Amino acid sequence: MQFRILVVDDEKNIREGLAASLEMDGYQVETAADGDAGFKRFRKGDIDLIITDLRMPGLSGEELLKKVDSETPGIPVIVLTGHGTVENAVAAMRNGAYDFLTKPVDLGHLSLLVKRALQSRELLLKHRRLEEELAHEKQFRTMVGTSAPMRQVFDTISRAAPSKASILITGESGVGKELVADAIHDLSPRKGKPMIKVHCAALAASILESELFGHEKGSFTGAVSRTRGRFELAHEGTLFLDEIGEIDQNIQIKLLRVLQEKKFERVGGEETIEVDVRIVAATNKDLKAEIEKGNFREDLYYRLNVVNILVPPLRERKDDLPLLITAFLREFAEENGKTLEGIDDKARAALYAYDWPGNVRELRNCMESAVVMTRGQVITAEDLPPTVRTQNDSGWIRIPLGTTMEEAEKIIIRDTLSAHKGNKSKAAEILVMGRKTLHRKLSEWGEDDGGE
Ligand SMILES: Nc1ncnc2c1ncn2[C@@H]1O[C@H](COP(=O)(O)OP(=O)(O)OP(=O)(O)O)[C@@H](O)[C@H]1O
Ligand SMILES: [Mg+2]
Repeated sequence: MQFRILVVDDEKNIREGLAASLEMDGYQVETAADGDAGFKRFRKGDIDLIITDLRMPGLSGEELLKKVDSETPGIPVIVLTGHGTVENAVAAMRNGAYDFLTKPVDLGHLSLLVKRALQSRELLLKHRRLEEELAHEKQFRTMVGTSAPMRQVFDTISRAAPSKASILITGESGVGKELVADAIHDLSPRKGKPMIKVHCAALAASILESELFGHEKGSFTGAVSRTRGRFELAHEGTLFLDEIGEIDQNIQIKLLRVLQEKKFERVGGEETIEVDVRIVAATNKDLKAEIEKGNFREDLYYRLNVVNILVPPLRERKDDLPLLITAFLREFAEENGKTLEGIDDKARAALYAYDWPGNVRELRNCMESAVVMTRGQVITAEDLPPTVRTQNDSGWIRIPLGTTMEEAEKIIIRDTLSAHKGNKSKAAEILVMGRKTLHRKLSEWGEDDGGE
């Protein structure tokens, strides 16, 4: 890296002497005869270090330092000072100067000082670059969306996040509920503290209970030691209860108590434990209907649903498609080391026409497979999964000539699922196929979303 140094001094001899010496060290050097000219040059950019006299007509070295620092903090400034005015130099250092040199300048000392200052400048620049890359990567992982319904979701997130209020996120499978939960935690004062996630549907009731509240040694067979539950682990942070609609009545009661009193006991324990936990829950079930059926406690529902965030299905916010498509294309092109220019009109039209019963998750999978399948630099309709390419509401499944058995099976399963809004039990019944087999196949294709 070639550094550019700006030397500001009203004394021509000093200016040129320093410049010559620094040029010998291999730096590019520019000079200015007073503070104003120096600041003007600095503003044009590209200066890595400034050496300035303190006392000059017009803008003094001290003032130049302040202006530079307020405009671009981090540019090293070395000040020059005559004998007997060292106090001024020390004051300048307090104002952010990197170091000072007394006149007559010892060129060896100057050379060393400049080298050191530029080394730390280089580190700073490197650090900034890394930070920018990281910020960019983060953007990738956060939610994309500019449609009116998504703006409303973002607005609710940013208003509700700072509080302690419980939040219930509702919406179909694959709409992005977990991303909303992540965003809530990240935008809350609890960021930096734990964000603990519990997938309530995946665990049997007894295991879920001890997962949530922990257990004492010997409280049940297999409880060989005292274990802290997720509530304790989430202390001062956020607890995300995914698929809350699936939890057992007994646990609903315990949960209600924690929400009301912030207190609970471990399974098999006497000690009452107090926690400070913010609850975010999610479900793709209609909890109101579950309450009617007697499966979900109404009092718990109201405790959880202090703020409700409904994430709309993708088919109701197709305005988000262009951004989502671009984001996923970029993500998977990078992951697969491919250079892609984009997507052609026919493919785009197919993506827009499709209903996306599996929502953003289905779109993401679709874009991944398109990126993997495509041979060219532009995604064409042929690169899209058959279900998307040939969506029809005709009650027919269309399988193009030349399709392999394996592909045909995929088309049949996907179309049947999509015709029944992703309901796997229904699809398995129609296909006269075991539900387990269906799950296994979908997970082989990376399409099992865990739902029924
Ligand atoms: N707005 C979005 N921008 C970018 N990616 C998204 C967006 N919404 C969802 N996704 C991606 O789609 C996938 C599904 O999202 P997520 O797991 O949050 O859905 P969900 O609503 O929790 O689904 P389920 O009910 O099945 O648990 C994830 O890979 C997620 O990163
Ligand atoms: Mg989820």
